[in-house]
Amino acid sequence: MPTTVLDLRRFKRDGERFVMLTCYDYQTARIFDEVGIPLIFIGDTLGIMVLGYDTTLPVTMDAMVHHCRAVSRGVRNGLVIGDLPFGSYEVSTAEGVANGIRLVKEGGVAVVKLEGPEVGVIEGLVSAGVPVMGHLGFTPQSFHAMGGNKVQARNEEQVAQLLQDAKRVQSAGACALVLEAIPTEAARRVTESLDIPTIGIGAGPHCDGQVLVSTEMLGMTEGPAPKFAKRYADLRGEIARAARTFADEVASGAYPDAEHSYDWTIRSN
Ligand code: KIV
Repeated sequence: MPTTVLDLRRFKRDGERFVMLTCYDYQTARIFDEVGIPLIFIGDTLGIMVLGYDTTLPVTMDAMVHHCRAVSRGVRNGLVIGDLPFGSYEVSTAEGVANGIRLVKEGGVAVVKLEGPEVGVIEGLVSAGVPVMGHLGFTPQSFHAMGGNKVQARNEEQVAQLLQDAKRVQSAGACALVLEAIPTEAARRVTESLDIPTIGIGAGPHCDGQVLVSTEMLGMTEGPAPKFAKRYADLRGEIARAARTFADEVASGAYPDAEHSYDWTIRSN
């Protein structure tokens, strides 16, 4: 049964813990969908994980639409969520709403995610019939304003602000809320105070669901990963091994062998 936004509230009501994975391409989308990942998310981490930027800030609407399209073509059952990139919704509510609609219309996503308590844009999209996912805590598009990758909501005052923002995002009509890089206790309080599900990334075990960046989760990235980014595979090692073996076999003449070559038979017809 395909996952819809209606399932999000049910997950919360029934205490059913669920997952979301980032995804940027068709083949990976097919795999995640086949194994039943319910929420498949084209994040603007696209910029770092696929396009080679240092931050998510340079990601454009065109790039998001391009990758949303590829992913949504590969998903049959999951709920596809697309991220609004930096600069696409901050200038005006109207522009934010138009860009959100574009992700649905051209990118094929069912839900649009955006960072911060952008109440006007959330309300505008919801009234246009577009489900919205919020994102609070560390919001990577505010990388410079936040002074880098930093855990947020570390004292009572900041947690009170986070709770207030979360309630505003919920009242504006969001269907779920991502909580990134906040202490476990702060995430527990937000999760218990909302009717919509929270989806944590570096926010401890009390969130209703969990999201990871798939390229980190699959062990494809180099260098240190954030504390929460558990590796469930070593695809970097596997890909390196396969590439090296191919090069070695070509050098030695082992590839292509008869099994991987066309024969000389010339057909008479
Ligand atoms: O863009 C992204 O991948 C995200 C996740 C970190 C939730 O926003």
